[in-house]
Amino acid sequence: MRAAGIIAGGGLVAFPTETVYGLGANALDDKAVAQIFEVKNRPNFNPLIIHISKISDALRLAEFDDRAEKVANAFWPGPLSIVLPRRVDSKVSFLASAGLDTIALRMPANKVAQKLLAAARCPIAAPSANRSGEVSPTMAEHVAQSFSKSGNKGPSLILDGGPCYVGLESTVVDLSAETASLLRPGGITQEILADNLGTLALAGSDDNAPRSPGMMTRHYAPASSLRINATTAGPNEAFLGFGDNAEGAIHNLSPDSNLTEAAANLFAMIRDLDNGTYEGIAVASIPEYGLGEAINDRLKRAAKKG
Ligand code: TXA
Ligand code: MG
Repeated sequence: MRAAGIIAGGGLVAFPTETVYGLGANALDDKAVAQIFEVKNRPNFNPLIIHISKISDALRLAEFDDRAEKVANAFWPGPLSIVLPRRVDSKVSFLASAGLDTIALRMPANKVAQKLLAAARCPIAAPSANRSGEVSPTMAEHVAQSFSKSGNKGPSLILDGGPCYVGLESTVVDLSAETASLLRPGGITQEILADNLGTLALAGSDDNAPRSPGMMTRHYAPASSLRINATTAGPNEAFLGFGDNAEGAIHNLSPDSNLTEAAANLFAMIRDLDNGTYEGIAVASIPEYGLGEAINDRLKRAAKKG
């Protein structure tokens, strides 16, 4: 299958699911995932849903308790994404999960999606296959239209599986904490879910994040304080460089000043520096264009918390 080869080679493939078309990349490959954000032209990094083809694959990526197993068995394959603690040995890209210790997993029911996942033999990270700010595509033509406006940026291949019958993104339920919460309403209704889970806490109830659907995610913030637009490290700080601005840097987001590479490295490098050895992390300034916008958005949020 040509599509599977593209995914394995680090490229992007748009594929149908029962909900909406997804823009897929190898979820284990930071650079491939960075390209998703690049072609979508997103000004920020949202964690992505990781698509898998078998429960046994899911068990390798996240910690399933009895409740999660019950819900997965009841609703997979289908339009439900489950947020779970990521396994410590999980190989999923930290960019795909926006640096979080949790990941959202989903097993799509669409036959083309299942064939792609089985042939690619890796989990596939996939947001909806549209450019930022546009509505989610439910037909292959929508995907082509969306990316035709973006010059040569887009998926290498669009798999046509006809119209999506759900036509609405998957329900996202968070089972990473003791109390289950609904993060995004979708294909599976709250009532149906609650029948399986007992009482379901309301979305956003324990969080001051914005309450619009899809935005109710706690963001990863490093424990160390973070200082942006730095040119060098201060006392007890680790310096995270970019391009030529990397004197004394412990890591360089991209020695060639490549923003896709910098995005791919961002969360993994910050996590590595946030290991308790340093009091703070000083980050070189990142140009504010292309993926730099999303990188700066993330860094500014982290710097505020620090
Ligand atoms: O129906 C769908 O779910 C489609 C198809 C392609 O599968 N995908 C999709 O992906 O809608 P996306 O990236 O547009 O939506 C991901 C949603 C966002 O609301 C995000 O905040 C949430 O999942 N999410 C992902 N990982 C999360 C995590 N670790 N914790 C909390 N929320 C998470
Ligand atoms: Mg979307």
